[in-house]
Amino acid sequence: MSEPVQEKAKFIVVANRLPVDRVVNDDGSVAWRSSPGGLVTALEPVMQARGGAWIGWHGAADEEVDPFHHDGYDIVPVALSELEVERYYEGFSNATLWPLYHDCIAEPVFHREWWDAYQQVNRRFADAAAARAEHGATVWVQDYQLQLVPQLLRELRPDLRIGFFLHIPFPPIELFNRLPWRDGIINGLLGADLVGFQTPGHGSNFLRLARRQPGVEGARGRVHLPDGRMVTAKAFPISIDAAGMAELANSPKVLAEARQLRADLGDPSTILFGVDRLDYSKGLRNRVRAVGELFDSGELDPEEVVFLQLATPSRERVKEYRILRDDIDLLVGRINSKSASLARSAINYRYTSVSRETLTGMYQIADVMLVTPLLDGMNLVAKEYLACRSRNDSALVLSEFAGAALELKQAYMVNPYDIDGMKATILRAVRDSPRVKARKMRAMRRQVFEHDIDLWADSFLNQLEGE
Ligand code: ADP
Ligand code: G6P
Repeated sequence: MSEPVQEKAKFIVVANRLPVDRVVNDDGSVAWRSSPGGLVTALEPVMQARGGAWIGWHGAADEEVDPFHHDGYDIVPVALSELEVERYYEGFSNATLWPLYHDCIAEPVFHREWWDAYQQVNRRFADAAAARAEHGATVWVQDYQLQLVPQLLRELRPDLRIGFFLHIPFPPIELFNRLPWRDGIINGLLGADLVGFQTPGHGSNFLRLARRQPGVEGARGRVHLPDGRMVTAKAFPISIDAAGMAELANSPKVLAEARQLRADLGDPSTILFGVDRLDYSKGLRNRVRAVGELFDSGELDPEEVVFLQLATPSRERVKEYRILRDDIDLLVGRINSKSASLARSAINYRYTSVSRETLTGMYQIADVMLVTPLLDGMNLVAKEYLACRSRNDSALVLSEFAGAALELKQAYMVNPYDIDGMKATILRAVRDSPRVKARKMRAMRRQVFEHDIDLWADSFLNQLEGE
């Protein structure tokens, strides 16, 4: 018998995504499966440890689902209509804000009716949180889809402690100011007591904008509002459940699966590995191009080296994502038709998501991990690799534009826009001596195990509750 759902909670997470998505199989039966992305990876262990309620969307349109108990906490689904999915989720969240906050790598699209839907859905999430929260509860709002919730919730429930954490970069003022509804977003965020960012730079971008609002003043990470409230903005670099992942990666089942996978890949001497949501911010085009050129020139030999790349389907109805999918299919096909060994393809590309077990097994066999986003708030894949790969004769190639680069300074750092530079660094990562690699791996592994997800959640919530 599962536990009953509590009417009220004293700790609530509000995020667009729930940790599980509701899917309807072809035979009409309903199943739940893990949701994609770093937000869910990071927050699941936090909720398992603390309990409380997680309010979010269950990934299907036009479906009302009752709250249920799951893994030690309550799940409270918020329904979205088909039109809201199109305008609030695919539109304003992922075709306006996502590209705007990621350096305009893709052109942000501005539509007034998308903004209307964003406001409407943010209000629904705020109402749901207001209805669930005990008096004086802590409510932690997550990410760019819900930036209006802090202010809306404060209007409804001034008794709450309200925190907000942005998982993606917060853009420089010059880009942010393109947004026709910029004041609405800044004021939405200023409804929180504490606003957390992945890096200090993102926090300063936000504070500069906040200080431009009438009557808002402040310095050193805080602003005072005309109504007398104070808001703190600070970096809290997010992390993973490093010990939990390491335990899974070293379980006999995963190690056996990993050995089998290495054999299935033809037992190459070197495995290069990449795993990302299929998103243009992840730098996949340049990564595949760089590795392809190394195969082409013979600097990497497809008889000895395999590049395994997993891409999780993501936001498949948004135009830029469809274009990216086709581009990568073409690019990989072209490279493989030129550089295959007799036994196998040079690039083993899989457009799919895999279980945690399989993924940790893949990290275990990856000799060189390629994490090369054009821009990324943090990038948890880099940290997962360090937690899971137990051998030290390994290498992490990391983009200097991932938030993780600020912590993982010993990585083989690349500028993902510089294809030649990236090629040279990948070769160095393949060829460096085991001693050099081991020194780097030890330092980075220590960083990840000492700065895990518990530390992240504790530092944010202790500060919020002490504000
Ligand atoms: P983002 O949140 O932008 O997707 P992160 O690197 O921070 O980027 O987090 C991605 C998360 O999704 C990681 O926990 C990673 O393990 C997981 N993930 C990515 N691709 C896959 C895949 N193909 N199968 C399973 N998990 C995946
Ligand atoms: C990133 C975002 C999350 C989002 C995830 C998956 O991690 O920061 O907010 O949930 O990507 O994207 P999706 O659009 O599928 O929720």
